Amino acid sequence: LATPFVLHADDSHADAQIVAENCQARYYEIFKDVESLVKQTIFLDELNELDPKKKSISRLRTLVPSLGKFFTELPLADAFLLEDERRAISKRRLVSPSFNDVRMILNTAQIMALTNIYKQTENNINGISGKNQQQQQQKLKLITFDGDVTLYEDGKSLDENSEVVQRLVKLLSLGLYVGVVTAAGYPRQSGAEKYYERLKGLIDHLNSNHCTLKTYQKENLLVMGAESNYLFRYNNEMKGLKFIDDEEWFLPQVKNWNIGKINYIMDTLYKHLIYLRNNFNLEDSTTIIKKERSVGIIPNSGCRILREQLEEMVLSCSRKLNTILTSSSNFADSTEALCVDDIKVCAFNGGSDVWVDIGDKALGVESLQKYICHDETVDHVCPIGKSESLHIGDQFASLGANDFKARLSACTVWIASPRETVAILDDLIDF
Ligand code: IMP
Repeated sequence: LATPFVLHADDSHADAQIVAENCQARYYEIFKDVESLVKQTIFLDELNELDPKKKSISRLRTLVPSLGKFFTELPLADAFLLEDERRAISKRRLVSPSFNDVRMILNTAQIMALTNIYKQTENNINGISGKNQQQQQQKLKLITFDGDVTLYEDGKSLDENSEVVQRLVKLLSLGLYVGVVTAAGYPRQSGAEKYYERLKGLIDHLNSNHCTLKTYQKENLLVMGAESNYLFRYNNEMKGLKFIDDEEWFLPQVKNWNIGKINYIMDTLYKHLIYLRNNFNLEDSTTIIKKERSVGIIPNSGCRILREQLEEMVLSCSRKLNTILTSSSNFADSTEALCVDDIKVCAFNGGSDVWVDIGDKALGVESLQKYICHDETVDHVCPIGKSESLHIGDQFASLGANDFKARLSACTVWIASPRETVAILDDLIDF
């Protein structure tokens, strides 16, 4: 985008209208080209899956080796036109297309891809009956949200009048499963109370007389806490969140995780955080918290940890984790040690604190996709697929951000505030 910006955006010698049109046409072409590169990548990835010996690498993957997997095609050119209308990107002469412009275009393309499927299938409904109709009607089945910064401001909670609550209720009324996948980790009864505090506005609405949702729609609200460790579901009789026993939803690989190893990882990272805290002279201004499946360092009331120190700590914890997860000498029984890298751990910078959690949001989202398919109240034949699942969050930088992992399990949208979440949901509902 930098090239057409430089070549076409200088309007000192030409008619401004023509310059704007040229510039828009060039940006459009570029997005069209990237769109086909994405298409080619999806095509080759599918071929490779069918025949692993093939190993064809797409042009886009050659250019960007760190590229993840695409679960849907992305109508980038159309998304650009829409965002250009909203943000007047091509009319700018002095400020080139920015990171945020591109983030918004990608988000819109993802929503368009998911809602186009919606539209197509809705159009096909006439004439399709019974179970078939139910399966056809909705392609997007599960929509998950990060908590802080995505649903509510950092450290705050949902208010019943909040714009986000109205949209979440709308999603439930459309028959979608709505999940909150948060790092905040609290098990059992204490968890039900803690998550109620954060989601108060939504749960109060579900319990109110003016809520018109059917019971099954209300019970499509799920909360996955501590990344992928504790599951709660709204229960209409209890009028609140019910803790779901691990046995009912833990993925087979997670069930096999060795508790001794988990404790070893937690103890080692706890000691490492103490070392880092001493190193930065943060003894008086921070507290280290150790839970069953996470350790973290948080600032004391009225204090703050510098951004650079947060980043240093998260990188240092990740490095420590890598040494533990790849070393076999940490355990007396070396055959067990070989399996230690099966345990997923994530270290992240929460903006004002640093946490190391057992599990990650990829597992959190995948657990929901599979738990829902075991749900006896609904006739689902197979687990929810990655292309039928959308995760919305604010932490997608590749280092020290915990929503990033959700990209492995679902389509994603990267927002920067609850206001942007509302705007994306409006697109999703209206398109
Ligand atoms: P999220 O943005 O909803 O994923 O929540 C992340 C925030 O939850 C962190 O920045 C912490 O402030 C808070 N938190 C509370 N308990 C935990 C925990 O056990 N692990 C990680 N984060 C936690």
